[in-house]
Parts: sequence; structure tokens; C-alpha cells
Amino acid sequence: MQTIRQLVALRDALASFRAAGESIALVPTMGALHDGHMALVDAARRRANRVVVSIFVNPKQFGPNEDLARYPRREMQDSRMLAEAGADVLWMPSVEEMYPDGFVTAVSVGGISALLEGAHRAGHFDGVATVVAKLFGQVRPDVALFGEKDFQQLAVIRRMAADLDLGIEVVGVPTQRDDDGLALSSRNLYLDPDERQRAVALPRALGVAARTLEKGGAADEALAQARDMLAQAGFETDYIALVDAETLAEPEPGRPMRLLAAARIGNTRLIDNVAVLSA
Ligand code: PAF
Repeated sequence: MQTIRQLVALRDALASFRAAGESIALVPTMGALHDGHMALVDAARRRANRVVVSIFVNPKQFGPNEDLARYPRREMQDSRMLAEAGADVLWMPSVEEMYPDGFVTAVSVGGISALLEGAHRAGHFDGVATVVAKLFGQVRPDVALFGEKDFQQLAVIRRMAADLDLGIEVVGVPTQRDDDGLALSSRNLYLDPDERQRAVALPRALGVAARTLEKGGAADEALAQARDMLAQAGFETDYIALVDAETLAEPEPGRPMRLLAAARIGNTRLIDNVAVLSA
């Protein structure tokens, strides 16, 4: 695996893949890799000849009071995991390489970015869309893979790729979970043992609410049930919402639905989501 930190070197490596007629998959990450990321790399290997993984903790997607400074950084361990998983290139630009002096452009995906996470994290999805647009421009992959755990992020990126005619296939990979059901996330590293035990209430609450809805229960009741379960476990809920799985707007009869939640336990904010099958 080549580890590359300069854009000129990245372009050379990619040019040699393209000259050999090889297809390229991109897995964008912020590092602190876990089995969820490895599932993205596996899926990428099945879809393209070459796999580029980026690690870049993107300052533009963190609000002023968020966890940019304490976001886990584990370069050596990440690099070992990616080499073992068969990634071809680790693209690890510095902040200066990604956003050189004079950088002023922002990508904003209207509508869908303002809901849910967007309503609680002002500017977050503009930061995500901007860096992903840059990564897409730098790597020009045939396919890019993102985890379904960040379900709204996936929807925002799909919208951006379609709106801008980027010609990149955006693939969502199912959430990987610990044995008790907690979605794998780099932010799980923040949880102390007691919080880690209680955190399982998040997937459980979503599961219980989804089953209530699938049996024909009213949305208000199902969401209140989930909110109660989260409160009992010591979570403060930012939102829990039943939405259309594609637009993330109000659900409409006959269309796929998704239940999304964000909740805080101690100093850690977790998100998760599940599919809801039609009743
Ligand atoms: O999901 C993430 O890790 C980040 O939001 C992403 C897509 C790498 C953009 O910084």
C-alpha cells in the first residue's frame, strides 16, 4: 500500500492505475478505523480494481463546540489495518494540502442538509459536501463507498453526486454492529465502560419503535416509546424521526421509510438508524 500525502503524488499513482485500464474505488474516512470501515474497504475491493482510502479529519464539518480537537487520531494502527485489508493507496493530506491559502469555495446541498443532523449541527453538511467534492475531484473514482450509519450523510452525498453530474456511483454499505447491537463508530472510543453498557439503548429503542411501526402502530406512540427508553438509559435525545428513506422528508405511503436518531450520553453524541418496513 502506498501512503501519499501530496496531491501531485496522488495524481501520479492514479494515472498509472488508469493507464492500465483499472477502475478505482474511494473510501473516504476520518480515520480511527474499525470493522465498519473495513466493511467499506471489502465492498470497495469487490467493486473496483484499485482501492483508495482517504483519512482526513475535516475541520470544516465540526462546529466550534464540537470534538475536532479530541477526535481520535491513530495513524499507525489505521495504516496497518488498511494494508492488511488490501487497500492500494492511503491518501492522507494535511489540512494545508486540502485547504491551501485562499481556499474559499463551499458546496451546499440544499434542503436535505437542513433537516435532522443539519438542524442540530449548523454547517456540518456543507463541510462534508465540500470535502467529499474535493476528494471526488482529487481521486476521480468510479465508485465511492459510505456507511449507512451516517444515513443522512449518504443521502446528501448521493444528492450532490446526482445534482453535479459527477458520474460517480455512490454506494451505501450496511452498518456494522457490536454483538449487543451498538453501531460501530469512532466516537464509541469516548464512552466509559458504564456509558458503553447504557449506549445499547440507542439501537434497542430504534428496534422497538421500528417493530411498533411495522405492526401498524402510530408514529407518535412509537417515537415516544423510543424517547422513553433513551431517557431511562440516561440519554438526552437530539431527535428521533421517521422519514422517507430517500428524501428524508415526511414519509409517504408506499415508499421506503427510515427511523433516524441522535442522542447524547455523557459527553458523547451518537447517531443510528434502522429501516422500517411498510405495515
Ligand atoms: O463519514 C465520515 O467519516 C466523514 O464525514 C467523511 C465522509 C469522510 C467526510 O469527512
